[in-house]
Amino acid sequence: MASTADAIAQPLSNSTIVAAYREKTPTSQQLATEARDVFPSGLTHDSRHLSPYGIYVDHAKGSRKWDVDGNEYIDYFGGHGSLILGHGHPEVRAAAHRALDGGTHFGTGHESEIRWAQLITRLVPSAELVRFTSSGTEATHMALRVARAFTGRRRIIRFMGHFHGWHDHMASGFSSHFDGSPTPGVLSEVAEAVTLCPPGNIYAVSKAFETYSDIAAVILEPLGSQTGQVPHPPGFLAELRALTEANDALLIFDEVVTGFRVSPGGAQALYGVTPDLTTLAKIVSGGVPGGAITGRRDLLELLDFEKAAAHGKTKIGHQGTYNANPLTAAAGLAALTLIAETDVCETASRSASALRKALRDVITEDGVPWGVYGESSVIHIFTNPNGRSIDPSSFDPLECQFEELALKPKELTHKLRLALLINGVDFTGWPGGTVSIAHTNDDIAETVEAFAGALRMLRQDGEI
Ligand SMILES: Cc1ncc(COP(=O)(O)O)c(C=O)c1O
Repeated sequence: MASTADAIAQPLSNSTIVAAYREKTPTSQQLATEARDVFPSGLTHDSRHLSPYGIYVDHAKGSRKWDVDGNEYIDYFGGHGSLILGHGHPEVRAAAHRALDGGTHFGTGHESEIRWAQLITRLVPSAELVRFTSSGTEATHMALRVARAFTGRRRIIRFMGHFHGWHDHMASGFSSHFDGSPTPGVLSEVAEAVTLCPPGNIYAVSKAFETYSDIAAVILEPLGSQTGQVPHPPGFLAELRALTEANDALLIFDEVVTGFRVSPGGAQALYGVTPDLTTLAKIVSGGVPGGAITGRRDLLELLDFEKAAAHGKTKIGHQGTYNANPLTAAAGLAALTLIAETDVCETASRSASALRKALRDVITEDGVPWGVYGESSVIHIFTNPNGRSIDPSSFDPLECQFEELALKPKELTHKLRLALLINGVDFTGWPGGTVSIAHTNDDIAETVEAFAGALRMLRQDGEI
């Protein structure tokens, strides 16, 4: 019988990249083997899946993290997009430490939750009232509930490939079940109440409004799926705004990643399109667990003990032990204060733009027909699965179809990530990542070297 270690060696076992990775990360391999005995696939989040195994990190600071074998990495995983300030920003740490010392749960209201919400309403154009949650998944779950309760309608429109967390309404059409059929464990009635449209296709949305009279809301990632991996055509958000208004349906921006990243007011401030509801998580809570739903006062008032009745509705129930707990509120308030009072978003975006350009120069010089793109502080690498003719210096993702941009050749993308790790860089599996204010010019120069080294390894392995 194959051992667990043998099992996780597949499918990349003959690669020189895998051999070099194993040599560099023996303690991570050991921990991955143990993890397989307690976690499905040895993982606690699907996006961390890496073959033959992922690194195990011991500590992190600024733009860097260190694994259990003592290897140092420049980090673009960025806490799944939550760390625009980098790891352990001194002001966020100090605020979190003070909160830890003062008590992590009072079972009551406390001042920092108010200051935190006040900042959100100041920064985010759609934000009139706020209700905190403990994750982005909870925030999008509540957004759909509010939309249905307010409109009295049942159907939700989503876009293929857009991610909104893992609750039942969001499961089909992200990475599978693009026909809208339910994923395992999801009721068919729930899946049936969601209409999936091709991303960026205003005609499909318009057709859905003609077909169904019961559409409560349209929800989307305002930059396009996976933080702009599949960007929208220009004007799409404004067209959606007009269409939802014309049909008395709500528009929900899922700004879990884009909120406080693409601008202090999120994508809605950047593009000047204000949704009815906005969901937030990640940066909003300063790198510790948290989330929020915010938006129009009359919509959020459906959670209000007194005011729901004034709208002729029964109050929507909402609990959550850790909502706005003092630790999260302190970290969130410290992070948003920095974002409101300094040029965090611009600084991270400037560094990302320099990195995108430098990576583009590398693939152009190397004759690798890939694309590098992304909005603000986000990096996407298009590995051109269909072998189209590309000039990397002028690659425009809008020329590609959704399927092509979202298609990730597993063998190549896993090997790219491993080769980058060997060279001291941790990218996400998109592939790409997010840039923080902690990334310096030296980090960017090192990343570019590492990327060039990774391409050489991929070439030796026959991948490009
Ligand atoms: C756009 C978007 N929405 C919602 C979520 C879910 O957030 P959480 O992981 O906090 O549940 C994510 C998480 O990555 C996300 O990227």
